[in-house]
Amino acid sequence: MRTHLCSSSYALLLNTLPLLTAPLCRLAMARNHSSKDSQPKVDKMQQLVHSDPSGGWEQCWEKGLTPWDLGQPTPILVDLHQRGALPKGRALVPGCGSGHDVVAIACPERFVVGLDISENAMKQATKLFSSSKSAEYFAFLEADFFTWRPNHLFDLIFDYTFFCAIEPEMRAQWASRIRDLLKPDGELITLIFPISDHEGGPPYKVSVSDYEEVLHPLGIKAESIVENHLAIPPRRGREKLGRWKRSICKSLL
Ligand SMILES: C[S@@+](CC[C@H](N)C(=O)[O-])C[C@H]1O[C@@H](n2cnc3c(N)ncnc32)[C@H](O)[C@@H]1O
Repeated sequence: MRTHLCSSSYALLLNTLPLLTAPLCRLAMARNHSSKDSQPKVDKMQQLVHSDPSGGWEQCWEKGLTPWDLGQPTPILVDLHQRGALPKGRALVPGCGSGHDVVAIACPERFVVGLDISENAMKQATKLFSSSKSAEYFAFLEADFFTWRPNHLFDLIFDYTFFCAIEPEMRAQWASRIRDLLKPDGELITLIFPISDHEGGPPYKVSVSDYEEVLHPLGIKAESIVENHLAIPPRRGREKLGRWKRSICKSLL
C-alpha cells in the first residue's frame, strides 16, 4: 500500500466524447477524439485486463488506455455535493482512477480517500491535484480494494465504474468489502452503469438486481434508486443513481 500525497458498442458504452461540452473535457476529447476512434483502445484495454488481471490495469494507465475517464468529475456527484446531499466525515472512492471525483467532494467537512490499484493512476491523480486548494482534504492511495485494511471506517463510499470493472465473480467480495469498510450508519452511493445487455467487459453489464443480489444478503438495502438525470449524454438512459444503507433491525422491546 502506498499513499500518494498530495466505440462500437463498448466505445459507445464507455465514451463520453464527442458530446461533452464542459471545458474540462477537452483533455479527454483530445485523447479520444470520438467513440469510433476509441474502440481500438477499448479492445486493447480489455485484452490487457484479461491477460493479466492483477497488472492489466497498471498497463492500461501506463499506455494511456483509459477510455472510461471523463477528464472531469461526475456531474451528479458534484450536484449532490453542492446541494449538501452527501454524508460528511470520511469518504472513499474505490477504483478512483485519475481522481476527479475524489477532489470534487473533498472539503473541510469531508476527508476523501481515493484508492486505486494502479501506481500510474495514483501518480497521475497526484500530479493533477497536488496543488489543489483542497489538497489537505484528500489522499490518494495505491492499494487493492479487496485486501486493503484501513484504520478508519467510512461515512460514504462512492462507486462509479468500479463495480462494472471487476470480474462479475468478484461482486460478492466487493459487497463484503463495502460492508466491512462502511460505518454502521454509513452510505453507499453507486452509479449503476452500464445497464445494457452486451456480453463481456470490462465494463461488464450491470442491472439493479446485480447490486441487490450481493448487497441484500448483507443487510444493505437501497433507500432510493433513480435515473441519473445528469448522466453525460452517451450514458443517458443506461445509468441509475443508487443510495444504499445498512438496514438496522430495530428491537421490538
Ligand atoms: C473503469 S476504471 C474507473 C476509474 C474511475 N472510477 C472513473 O470513473 O474514471 C476502474 C479503475 O479501477 C481500478 N482497479 C481495478 N481493480 C482494482 C482493485 N482491485 N483495487 C483498486 N482499484 C482497482 C483500475 O486501476 C481503474 O483505475
